[in-house]
Amino acid sequence: VIKVGDNNFRPAYHFTPEKNWMNDPNGMVYYKGEYHLFFQYNPDDNVWGPMHWGHAVSEDLVNWEELPVALYPDDLGNIFSGSAIVDTHNTAGFKTGDEDVLAAIFTHHNPETNEQYQSLAYSNDKGRSWQKYEGNPVLTNEDKTDFRDPKVIWHEEKQQWIMVVAAGQEIIFYSSPNLKEWEYLQSFGHGHGAHGGVWECPDLFTVRNENGEERWALLVSINPGAPNGGSGTQYFLGSFDGETFETSQTETKWLDYGTDNYAGVTWSNEPNGRNLFIGWMSNWAYAQNVPTTAWRSAMTLPRTLELSNNGDLLLSKPAEEMSSVLASNSVEYTTNGVDIKNDPVLKTGTFQINTTLDLSKDKSIELFWGNETSGVSLQYDKTTSEFVINRNDAGYSFNNLNNNNLFIPYVLPESNELELEIWVDKSSVEIFVNGGERVITFLIFPNTPFGDLQIHSDSEAEFIQSLYIQPIVNK
Ligand code: FRU
Repeated sequence: VIKVGDNNFRPAYHFTPEKNWMNDPNGMVYYKGEYHLFFQYNPDDNVWGPMHWGHAVSEDLVNWEELPVALYPDDLGNIFSGSAIVDTHNTAGFKTGDEDVLAAIFTHHNPETNEQYQSLAYSNDKGRSWQKYEGNPVLTNEDKTDFRDPKVIWHEEKQQWIMVVAAGQEIIFYSSPNLKEWEYLQSFGHGHGAHGGVWECPDLFTVRNENGEERWALLVSINPGAPNGGSGTQYFLGSFDGETFETSQTETKWLDYGTDNYAGVTWSNEPNGRNLFIGWMSNWAYAQNVPTTAWRSAMTLPRTLELSNNGDLLLSKPAEEMSSVLASNSVEYTTNGVDIKNDPVLKTGTFQINTTLDLSKDKSIELFWGNETSGVSLQYDKTTSEFVINRNDAGYSFNNLNNNNLFIPYVLPESNELELEIWVDKSSVEIFVNGGERVITFLIFPNTPFGDLQIHSDSEAEFIQSLYIQPIVNK
């Protein structure tokens, strides 16, 4: 039996804080060999409370070292989400030594008045210690209560900083030469996208595809109102000239169709020019009730976001560094089905399944991972063009989204091929479909080890082209 209250659900290759509550990833910035990950953190409890910025660094996106808390609450309030940049040209004048100065742009939340405003902090020692700017806050708004999560990028052509910040159900764009004075550019949101909840945690960046086509992407997290309930992240593809973001997109697009990828944004100053993304792997609908105690919440796998060749989709792929956690291992299977029982690798709860299925002769397939009493199933049906995931009997119950199934629309390509890359890590499942055209991330808390894997189709046709189950190494 897998017990609640110890570390049995702690992921092996995903970031979790050593202790206590975490939500959004914040201030992700790369500097001199280190990927910095800050995060919404309550150092004193395993539920949400007075927010701080926790801090971790990694050289390889796999092994994380947790550092002391970077930003503490102060007279202006608690420290909500935001971003960080390297101020290479010292535009804000915060630089004091030889290192480039890092600047964090975050929301101060006043717990008494509920007011929110944007503030600055800086570090001259590679992110190890942080000073708040004495002129804080640097940006306030008339509608003071929902005004948060600034993401700042450098606009090369305009030679200016651009900030996107969430305000109610809009994203407001500002520009600045020096991070301290901000000029209003535009509000975006009315008439666009999903509006089932408050807009939070925007991000703005360029994406390119293999044809060299470039577009601007705007990420907007929304809570509630996600396709499978609770919190989720939508995106808009369009253009941005340094002043105005425009899109002709009419349908709502979701970065992840699972229940557990929220408030994610991309790294600043990424050395390989990637749009490197990480999200909070939970959902406000139940995050504070999941059955872990010492720590609460993990981040998703770091992922790269790319533009699809037709220019229509943001593809999400696990960062290539993640392949270093996989041991190469193949398994035996038959081309018309899989029935693995009591497998020791599956029972560890940390592995990757990689399979390519040919659905030209089938209407539907089903994959089940579990044991005799519980498990998770994934079905794909060609006639309805939809995945259905059932995690209702996957162990401990924590989900108060009415215990529903997850439904994910997806039209199979003409090749009829379905490639599934499934990363499992104790309490999380991340499914990448056909090179990231769909991503489905969700939590489960098994109370007994799941050693069985079945993959079947509705016909007797030979549909399995390849199947690998890869254990995790060195973790
Ligand atoms: C998103 C969010 C942000 C806010 C932070 C507070 O999950 O609500 O909008 O800054 O969490 O912890």
